[in-house]
Amino acid sequence: MEKNKIIIKEGLAKIQVSDDVFYNNKMKNLRDISVLFVKFFGDAQATVLDSTCATGIRGIRYLKEAGVKNVVFLDINKSAAENTRNNLKLNKIKNKVKNISIQEFCAGPERGIFNFIDLDPFGSPQPHINDIMRVAQDGSYLMITATDTAVLCGAHANACIKSYGAEPIHNELCKESGIRILLGYIARVTASFNFGVEPILSISDMHYMRVFLRVVHGAQKAVSSMKELGFVSFCNNCRSFEYAKGLAPILNNKCNFCKKNLKFFGPMYLGSINDKNSIDKLMLYNANNRIITESDNMDKLLLKISNELDELFFYSIPKITKSIGYVSVSPEEIIKKLQTYGFKTSKTQFDKDGIKTNAKITEIKKILDDIINAK
Ligand SMILES: C[S@@+](CC[C@H](N)C(=O)[O-])C[C@H]1O[C@@H](n2cnc3c(N)ncnc32)[C@H](O)[C@@H]1O
Repeated sequence: MEKNKIIIKEGLAKIQVSDDVFYNNKMKNLRDISVLFVKFFGDAQATVLDSTCATGIRGIRYLKEAGVKNVVFLDINKSAAENTRNNLKLNKIKNKVKNISIQEFCAGPERGIFNFIDLDPFGSPQPHINDIMRVAQDGSYLMITATDTAVLCGAHANACIKSYGAEPIHNELCKESGIRILLGYIARVTASFNFGVEPILSISDMHYMRVFLRVVHGAQKAVSSMKELGFVSFCNNCRSFEYAKGLAPILNNKCNFCKKNLKFFGPMYLGSINDKNSIDKLMLYNANNRIITESDNMDKLLLKISNELDELFFYSIPKITKSIGYVSVSPEEIIKKLQTYGFKTSKTQFDKDGIKTNAKITEIKKILDDIINAK
């Protein structure tokens, strides 16, 4: 244990952070969700690979709060592995900590198989997806963070094409499409191992994206996941969008509404990215068992996602009003109108001014006309 270092408490874990090892207290919320996820979907026999452990905070919390049987800790950085070893001692836990890369461990003779695989590297998780699939089995859960959001969100389109094999969207839809590109990439890699994907929870918050999914073995499952991939078209003029599943779908090249040329993006995962049933059960489980005690932020985020309509993409109201030269209208006002006309609608985690709905752009614009004319 390092002398004169402050002890940080997070959940039931106590850690000290070495100067050259990563720890971000702002990511506590995401670790809380991960602990709850592992506790809910795991049991006392569960095994976890904390493949990018840094201080060991996640794995220590999985052991102490989620009650799993075993966590193997990996970090390529020597100081991080050392820091994790010291933190395990601080928490009176004995577990394997390896100063080794994910690539080396997952190809090596001691690798083993895990029920949960946590991947939280710096930047892109893309180079490691293939490696972690070597230690997955039927029903394993992958928990994957991406902080290369500028790439997934299209600020660096060529990097996205190169790494994820997808044309990214660089407008108001970029956060949702970034998550779908990430899931599409994961689905392609898992399919090559004969696994399909079942996304359970997908989060875009601050500077990161994190997806929680189950992999299911079998050729049929792999093919059906691949069939959830597809392409999105977007009209820069009227801000409408369409999508089509399949790797070679037929798409109109003119906008259905304003007849202007469309732009195309993908491939990306177009299936459900959140399993509402599981998310509701997670929230209820925590409310009844208080796995995470200070859970206000976590509860808010999970509730927002649970309340979100399972529709692909959304309309960003300020973008639409600006494109047609209207004064701004509150999304809440439009939601109310859409509901009175019988459309399904909700807010979205991807944009505080965005609306998910089964209404088309023409209906949104008609409602905007009604609201503006009534003022
Ligand atoms: C963002 S930090 C992990 C933070 C940690 N999961 C937490 O919640 O505090 C990323 C860590 O991954 C490690 N890392 C990066 N590439 C790696 C690789 N190929 N194999 C193993 N560890 C790696 C880094 O050394 C760093 O400690």
